[in-house]
Amino acid sequence: MSSTALTGWLASQDASQHLTTILCTIASAGEELAEIIRNAPIAGNVGATAAQNVQGEVQKALDVISNDLLLDRLAAIPSIAAMVSEEMEAPVLNAETGQYIVCFDPLDGSSNTDCNGPVGTIFSVLGRTATGAVTEAEICRGARVQVAAGYIIYGPATQLVITTGTNVALFALAQGAGFQLQIDGVRVPTGTREFAINAAHRESWDERTRRYVDACQLGSKGPFAASYTMRWMGAMVADVHRILLKGGLFAYPALVTADGVKPKLRFLYEINPIAMILECAGGHCYSGDTPSQQYVPHTIHDRVPVVLGAPDEVARYQGE
Ligand code: AHG
Ligand code: MN
Ligand code: MN
Repeated sequence: MSSTALTGWLASQDASQHLTTILCTIASAGEELAEIIRNAPIAGNVGATAAQNVQGEVQKALDVISNDLLLDRLAAIPSIAAMVSEEMEAPVLNAETGQYIVCFDPLDGSSNTDCNGPVGTIFSVLGRTATGAVTEAEICRGARVQVAAGYIIYGPATQLVITTGTNVALFALAQGAGFQLQIDGVRVPTGTREFAINAAHRESWDERTRRYVDACQLGSKGPFAASYTMRWMGAMVADVHRILLKGGLFAYPALVTADGVKPKLRFLYEINPIAMILECAGGHCYSGDTPSQQYVPHTIHDRVPVVLGAPDEVARYQGE
């Protein structure tokens, strides 16, 4: 089902016809995936496959299904020159004359598929910076030419969050009627004393992260003089969605281990799009001291540390 509400909103943002086709195709693939995810326990599509992805992670059945579906739907679009997915080692070359590169995490939070927890699809559309066949170097250099970003969250409701660089819009999927506009101009609320972090990694945190979480946990008796609460959904899309609508902070710092310093989240299809959404909604997204969108990856699967959320809470984390 194509969404006239989404097409209309993209026109209000002056999106080109080519970009509109790409974004509406992703939304429509998201509608298909919502149904597949809803039916997964009965259809036998939960649990792991025998395979591992390029990152050495066990692939869930729904990781593979989501990846295949997105690749199939996007390959038909001649304005897409290449696609980058979390699940594929190399970029998939499409139409050489296409003006865009689409990067995606087909299923974010896939450990939640086994327990009916929220999952999502994250996407980023980059403009091309060269001609001829797309190379990994062009994609990495072009990461800053992000022309649109968004995610679909498959939770109790399916919602789409999208931006082309100005407004952030929130759409909700209405059964049989496609995505309907819920909010145009989402802004991250400030003043919410809430943080999201995997606290099991405390021993491997850097000093800044430890100091921030300690201060939150000291509550009204600590340096922040306020009571905090904590949430961790196991799916970045779900944690980010909560922050976008309710405020607070999400952090996934690099873990300092005996084998080296290890960030977890991938830049091109996890952090770059989420950073664009956050910044357009008045929030912040940093990798170290650098705004995440300024990072230039060396490989398409580069990982970066991240702290994101409402500007007041991110400033507290940064020690400002
Ligand atoms: P993916 O399912 O695409 O591999 O991403 C999972 C990511 C992210 O969604 C989430 O915030 C984080 O991994 C959870 O990490 P922990 O297992 O350390 O909690
Ligand atoms: Mn992910
Ligand atoms: Mn994933």
